[in-house]
Amino acid sequence: MIDDFADSGRTILDRCDEFAQFTEEPDRLTRSYGSPALAAAMARAADWMSEAGLSVRRDAAGNLIGRLAAADPGAPTLLLGSHLDSVRDAGKYDGPLGVLTALAALDRARAQGPFPFHVDVVAFADEEGLRFRTAYLGSRAFAGAFDPALLELTDAAGIALREACLAAGGDPEALAAGVARPERLLGYVEAHIEQGPTLESLDVPVGVVSTIAGQTRVNATFRGEAGHAGTVRMMHRRDALSGAAEFVLAAERQARGKAGLYITVGHLVVSPGASNVIPGEVRLTADVRSANDGVRERALVELRAAATDIASRRRLELDWRVVPGNAAVPMDRELTQRLANAIDACGYPVHHLPSGAGHDAVMLARLCPVAMLFVRCKGGVSHNPAESVSAEDAAATVAVLARFLDDARTSLS
Ligand code: GLV
Ligand code: MN
Ligand code: MN
Repeated sequence: MIDDFADSGRTILDRCDEFAQFTEEPDRLTRSYGSPALAAAMARAADWMSEAGLSVRRDAAGNLIGRLAAADPGAPTLLLGSHLDSVRDAGKYDGPLGVLTALAALDRARAQGPFPFHVDVVAFADEEGLRFRTAYLGSRAFAGAFDPALLELTDAAGIALREACLAAGGDPEALAAGVARPERLLGYVEAHIEQGPTLESLDVPVGVVSTIAGQTRVNATFRGEAGHAGTVRMMHRRDALSGAAEFVLAAERQARGKAGLYITVGHLVVSPGASNVIPGEVRLTADVRSANDGVRERALVELRAAATDIASRRRLELDWRVVPGNAAVPMDRELTQRLANAIDACGYPVHHLPSGAGHDAVMLARLCPVAMLFVRCKGGVSHNPAESVSAEDAAATVAVLARFLDDARTSLS
C-alpha cells in the first residue's frame, strides 16, 4: 500500500530541496519572518496549493492558507499544516515537511470523494521566532492571541515587527485589531520531524505525540564596567562576561541534575565587544523546558537565584525579564486516537512520544483540539543543516494522513 505513495514521498523531498534555495544567507538556509526568502517560499507554496485546486489567501500575519471548500459555506473547518520560516543555518524539513505532507495527503484523500467540512492547509509565517526572538508569531496571530505591543519589537537592524509584517504580506493594523474566527474548528493536525532519536531507535517511520513540553524564555543582562584590558587589576574588575560564563555553567549543572529539564543559553551579546576591553555588559537568553510544568517553574526560580548570587558576588547588576511562555500542552485524546488508528491501518506499530520542541500546535490548542504526527529523522538531528528524512518516511506520513482524512470524512463532526 505504501508503494502507492512512493511518488508523493519523492516529490515532497524534491520540494523541500526547492524550498531550501529560498534563503536570506548565501551559504546556509536561513528564512526569517518578513524576509524576501520567506516571501519566495510562500509564493512557491501558494503555487502548489493552487495547482492542487485549493483557494489561497493570506491572513493578517502573512500566514498562507489554502482551502478545499465544502459544498456548504457554513460547514466547520479542519486545519492541517506547519511553518515555513526557519532557524539560522537550518535543516530542510523542520516545518516544510508538515506543510507538504498535508498538501499531498489532502490531494490523495479528496480523490476518494468530497469532505463535509472545509479543509485548510496552513503554512505559518513565523514559528521559530528567529528575527524578533518570539515564539509562534504566526500561529499566535492565527489563534487570536497576538499582543499588539509586539508590533513595536525591533530586529537586530532596528526594523520593527510592524514593517516585517507588511513585508510578509500581512496587515499590521488588522493584526493589532485581532482576528474574529466565527467558524467552528474541528481540529488541527500537524506532521513534523521528530527532532529526536526515539523513532529511529524503535525503527518506525512515524509516531503520535502525547504532549508538547512547556517552555519559558528569559532575557537577562549582566552589567558591570568596561575598562582597559591591560591596566585594570584583575581583582578590581566587574567583568560582565565572566559573570555570564559562570551563569551558563550553573544553568547546565542545574538542568543536568534534574531528569526531564532542559536549559539552553543560546544567544549572548557581549558589549562593547573588543579584544582589549573588559566586557561591560552581556545580554543573554535562557530557554527553559520541561514536559512537567512544576519542574519548569521551580527551575526558573532556581535559575534566577543562581543569576542573582553570581551578580552579587561579582558586583554586577542583573536585569531579568521573563518572556511569557507556555505550559505543557497535552494533545487531544480523540484526535490522537484517530492518528493512531490511521498508523495502525497503514500497517505500522503505534508509538506515543512527547515533544521537547515547540510547535504551532501549542497556539492552535487555544482554538481547537490538536494532534501531531512525528516523522523519523536521521540521528534525531535538527536545527542543523544535517537534518535528514527519507522519501519512504515522507511517503508513510502522507499515507497515514490520507488515511486519517479518509476516516474523518465520515466520522469527524
Ligand atoms: C522550535 O523549534 C522550538 O522548539 O524552539
Ligand atoms: Mn524548529
Ligand atoms: Mn518546527
